[in-house]
Amino acid sequence: MGSMNLRDHLNHEVFRIISSAAEQAHTEAYVVGGFVRDLLIKGVPTTPKDIDIVVLGSGIALAEKVRFSLGGEAPLTVFKNFGTAMLLWGETKIEFVGARKESYRRDSRKPLVEDGSLEDDQNRRDFTINALAISLNRETFGELLDPFGGLRHLEEKVITTPLEPGRTFSDDPLRMLRGIRFATGLGFQIEAGTLEAIHLNRERIGIISQERITDEINKILSSPQPGRGFLLLDETGLLELIFPELYRMKGVEEVDGHFHKDNFLHTLKVLDNIALESDRLWLRWAALLHDIAKPRTKKFEPGTGWTFHGHEFLGAKMVPGIFRKMKLPLNEKMKYVQKMVQLHLRPMVLSQETVTDSAVRRLIFDAGDDLEDLMTLCEADITSKNERTVKRHLHNFRIVREKITQLEERDSIRNFQPPISGTDIQKAFGIPPSKPVGIIKNAIKEAILDGEIPNQYASAYRRMLEEGKALGLTVRQESATGSDGPEPPEAGDR
Ligand code: CTP
Repeated sequence: MGSMNLRDHLNHEVFRIISSAAEQAHTEAYVVGGFVRDLLIKGVPTTPKDIDIVVLGSGIALAEKVRFSLGGEAPLTVFKNFGTAMLLWGETKIEFVGARKESYRRDSRKPLVEDGSLEDDQNRRDFTINALAISLNRETFGELLDPFGGLRHLEEKVITTPLEPGRTFSDDPLRMLRGIRFATGLGFQIEAGTLEAIHLNRERIGIISQERITDEINKILSSPQPGRGFLLLDETGLLELIFPELYRMKGVEEVDGHFHKDNFLHTLKVLDNIALESDRLWLRWAALLHDIAKPRTKKFEPGTGWTFHGHEFLGAKMVPGIFRKMKLPLNEKMKYVQKMVQLHLRPMVLSQETVTDSAVRRLIFDAGDDLEDLMTLCEADITSKNERTVKRHLHNFRIVREKITQLEERDSIRNFQPPISGTDIQKAFGIPPSKPVGIIKNAIKEAILDGEIPNQYASAYRRMLEEGKALGLTVRQESATGSDGPEPPEAGDR
């Protein structure tokens, strides 16, 4: 394999520029890592985004030279302590590093670095498929250097390490997660000895920062079949350490011949179903967490069987804690996931009964703009093996969807704005902001959602008067109301 040449794939000018800069500096430079891996997988030249360059000598010095060749304008960041430099050229990030031979201290990720040969540098990398290098030197430009069988492993779809795997993982435990992430994203198998080494070294994940762990979890979640990644995390014993809430969903219990389903496996199936429909990360998080409170709400009720009452509410309550621990953003993304978890049973419950207008209206009101996502999640949640059950649910969902469309055209419930404002109520009864105002406002909203009155000013005003009277209030200001005048008096009041 030694003489494979990829010259034609390096037609981007950046490689020529680095090549001549290296020649002028009397050093050698190679492209390594993800760029080479992805190029060989795709087999076609790609516009490079992230390029890793290994230099036999100073990475920083070569980066400065390349910057000069590019006109001296490109932003350069130098990491003196690590001997690396990052050059930004348009959209392309080019990272320069001197070839190294590393040994790590056991208690930390900070390596003791020594200069090394190209092969030393390839050797210290995480996986053979990431340890392939392409020469940028004039004589050998485009030649693939593959001392550890990375090309064969790409063809065989295998993840394995250049060194004895225990050492590779112990040197940098994050690589255990990277290995699972690559296997999931690329659809590769992890070689048996490598998998075993992850299992043996799993506790070392404890020295890795939460941000980097979460980054890998997000990458696993973004894969075409994320479920497999979580199975691998479980198989290697990492799941229990990095995601105990998910780990606790594993397993099946039996009482009097009644089994419940394995909620971990069910969740992974839902996740894979969602992945077929959408690549949005937060919808995938919602799928991952939708049943997270099942272990804590599980009960066997004689006569009924296994129940998980309220797991959607407790689940929604658990979301902020999980997001905080995972260092995920505590913003509207989290609120979205919470809302999806809390509402995930609603369309299903609806579709099992006769679908009433008021139930659909309430669903539209509660889900707002996330209604389509919620429906997608619920459809993904149907994982029954019984084909007739699946068909029946999907059929009912179609009815719910049709109802949603009909009602939306008629009632504009989504992003509901009350037709009567608090100020309207205060004026009508001559009262200050107070509890009765809230009670009346809520009663009007309920009446609209229940379909007792249309979502219009005049009928809402009439309802307000009735509610006020029932509370013992007297009308101070009769406005253009009792009539059927559909328009509010002054929009500015509301
Ligand atoms: N690397 C490593 N150990 C790590 C991280 C990175 O050995 N913990 C090496 C690998 O050779 C990797 C290269 O550094 O290919 C670049 O790392 P990075 O940019 O993080 O990943 P890529 O492999 O480029 O893949 P991706 O961009 O898809 O994450």
